[in-house]
Amino acid sequence: MKSEKITILGIESSCDDTSAAIIRDGIILSNVVAGQKVHGEYGGVVPELASRAHQQNIIPVVDMALKRAAVSKNEINAVAFTNGPGLLGSLLVGTSFAKGFSLAAGIPLIEVNHLQGHVLALFIQENGIEFNQPKFPFLCLLVSGGNSQIILVRDYLDMEVIGQTIDDAAGEAFDKCAKVMGLPYPGGPHVDRLAKSGNPGRFAFSKPDVPGLNYSFSGLKTNFLYFLRDNLRKNENFISENINDLCASLQYTIIEILMNKLKRAAKQTGIREITVAGGVSANSGLREALTENAVKYRWKLVIPKFEYTMDNAAMIAITGYFKYLNKQFAGQNVVPFARTQL
Ligand code: KG4
Repeated sequence: MKSEKITILGIESSCDDTSAAIIRDGIILSNVVAGQKVHGEYGGVVPELASRAHQQNIIPVVDMALKRAAVSKNEINAVAFTNGPGLLGSLLVGTSFAKGFSLAAGIPLIEVNHLQGHVLALFIQENGIEFNQPKFPFLCLLVSGGNSQIILVRDYLDMEVIGQTIDDAAGEAFDKCAKVMGLPYPGGPHVDRLAKSGNPGRFAFSKPDVPGLNYSFSGLKTNFLYFLRDNLRKNENFISENINDLCASLQYTIIEILMNKLKRAAKQTGIREITVAGGVSANSGLREALTENAVKYRWKLVIPKFEYTMDNAAMIAITGYFKYLNKQFAGQNVVPFARTQL
């Protein structure tokens, strides 16, 4: 039986995590994420393998999300799914599942932009737990494996990208530099861990000079690669002898690049309500830098709970909830896109 409450099933399959979540009236009831270990040995996500793993995972993951939430299929009011950006084959698995579910249950289908989901993860409520919500308008630094953007958020469904990377994303810079140091994929969390006992001022790496609020990380990646190559010629143990300082200096440079543009964006817009989203926002150095700058510039800072910063379906379900309230539904002819704008 459907109650007065709005219950949304969210599906996320844009990259290498298959996830399903249930949100009821903005409160999370379950969030199940199945990662894909298969990519580890390739040092990056292999699209075809990701699609196959999504196919295997999607039904058990949805089933577990319903069970953990203690919700039956006929209590779901709408099914929300990620329509992009992401890997097309992966997106198609979630899209097809959501279409089938919507058709079988006779409930609306809601398409969700993955990036909008990352931002709206800031509004996921946990039952009975006080939480710090950002107030509109706010700026969101969205940093993940595929994106680095500064988003001006005027309302739940009214966002504008005011700065973005012109090449690699911040997470990609972490992962690719980690890979050349021989660290496992994804390298970001390993760099973070090793940087904790390193000297961030030991090595200086190049910072890009990109106009406006845009970012660039490809130059840093090349600079880091050549720096290692030159030093390995002189000392074949250069990486292992300096791994902590290398990670600390690399992390320091990435954070400086991110923070410089964020500070500029806050100054230009006059907005002091600052948030962060995406997988890289788990980085401890970035969190410290944000906290220090919040004190210095009197920002009101909202940092989401760790589990909602990574790819997850709870962020798709919460966005689906706001779209449901706005009656923004999709038809059965909806298709996913590898590249989409907010
Ligand atoms: O948002 P996300 O889960 O998926 C994408 O949209 O790609 O972000 C994954 C990215 C990866 O690049 C990973 O290395 C990075 O987030 N990441 C981190 C940390 N935890 C995850 N980067 C730096 N420090 C971390 N602690």
